[in-house]
Amino acid sequence: MTTTRGLEGVVATTSAISSIKDDVLTYRGYSIQDLAEQSTFEETIYLLWNGELPTADQLQAFKAELAENASVPNELFEFMKNYPLETVHPMAVLRTAISTLGIYDPDAELMDKQSNKEKAIKLQAKIATLVAGFARIRQGLQPVVPNKSLSYAANFLYMLKDRVPSEVEAQMFDKALVLHADHELNASTFTARVCVATLSDMYSGITSAIGALKGPLHGGANEQVMRMLERIGSIEWVDDYILNALENKKKIMGFGHRVYKNGDPRAKILKTMARTLSEMSGDSRLYDMSLKIEILMKEKKGLLPNTDFYSATLYHILGIDHDLFTPVFAISRTSGWAAHILEQYNDNRLIRPRAEYNGPRLRRVTPMAQR
Ligand code: SDX
Repeated sequence: MTTTRGLEGVVATTSAISSIKDDVLTYRGYSIQDLAEQSTFEETIYLLWNGELPTADQLQAFKAELAENASVPNELFEFMKNYPLETVHPMAVLRTAISTLGIYDPDAELMDKQSNKEKAIKLQAKIATLVAGFARIRQGLQPVVPNKSLSYAANFLYMLKDRVPSEVEAQMFDKALVLHADHELNASTFTARVCVATLSDMYSGITSAIGALKGPLHGGANEQVMRMLERIGSIEWVDDYILNALENKKKIMGFGHRVYKNGDPRAKILKTMARTLSEMSGDSRLYDMSLKIEILMKEKKGLLPNTDFYSATLYHILGIDHDLFTPVFAISRTSGWAAHILEQYNDNRLIRPRAEYNGPRLRRVTPMAQR
């Protein structure tokens, strides 16, 4: 048997959802640049789940379905009030909340196509409400009731701050959601597919995926990028911090990628968005530091930023708490996870690879008295 560490380069499935080829990322054949400019997050979700962009009527009906399903059982918020709010990480809360949501869905165990599609809608609609609700609860505030007249992106920011966002804020956030929606067989999507390939239910699949996304080598990196920028503090300390970290063989969060070697196309778009918002806000401190880090990382390690690098600055300027950056990633990626889960169910086979054993050779159990 041959082994490949971290399954690098291993093609584990076929999929018609998203593709990374020659550093170009497409969803269902459309480039993400095109989608970020010409579609909304709702259109992108529809595309990922149905294979085609919606017509105006289909979009209207889909948005109505999402809005209708946005509220969550109040019990979930009541549970959250009893969590150790000072210390618990919002990704741990989200992982638990999605699992709990399954308990309250009477159709959670139904496995026909229609029920699974309905579960995808419920999960997508409710995950934003759960993240925003927890953000309020930990501040001792009441969750804000979803506003059906707002877009998905605008409604999340509204539920987070109890204030309707400006058009620019909503648009920028909407684009960020489009850009994070799917990414081929990344670790969390693979996790979701492995889980549901046992014919487990969609709530289990998304819960497992959230667990995988949480780690700092994956989605958790966006929060760590922000922590690094805070620790550096000012542009004149960038060189010291980065050179010292590299000398000590530390990973610089938001850099490198298993698949992209010439740069992550999403990072380029997010960089432009972060610059625009920084200029508009009149405070470009984080953007300027980020730019300097990018130049230094290219020079010293030949590494380029990934999607988690400039999204940190963007979310900070949008006023999102730093430990909510990864839950925000999860909100967007739920669309991709659900698309992959539906695809997996459609042509399922158990995912069960082998391990090459490198432990002790066959031996006998020594009786207790002689050990
Ligand atoms: C996401 O897979 C996806 O598609 C994920 C994602 C998605 O949309 O789903 O794109 C989202 O998860 C982005 C990645 C977020 N993670 C980080 O930003 C954490 C920092 N980056 C790395 O730890 C790393 O680059 C990974 C985890 C992203 C990729 O890991 P690999 O492919 O296993 O690469 P590696 O760790 O084996 O690194 C190869 C070399 C090593 O040097 P050598 O030992 O060969 O000398 O590159 C170096 C590494 O030390 N390296 C870094 C580095 N990333 C790689 N050195 C310093 N800082 C880094 N960030």
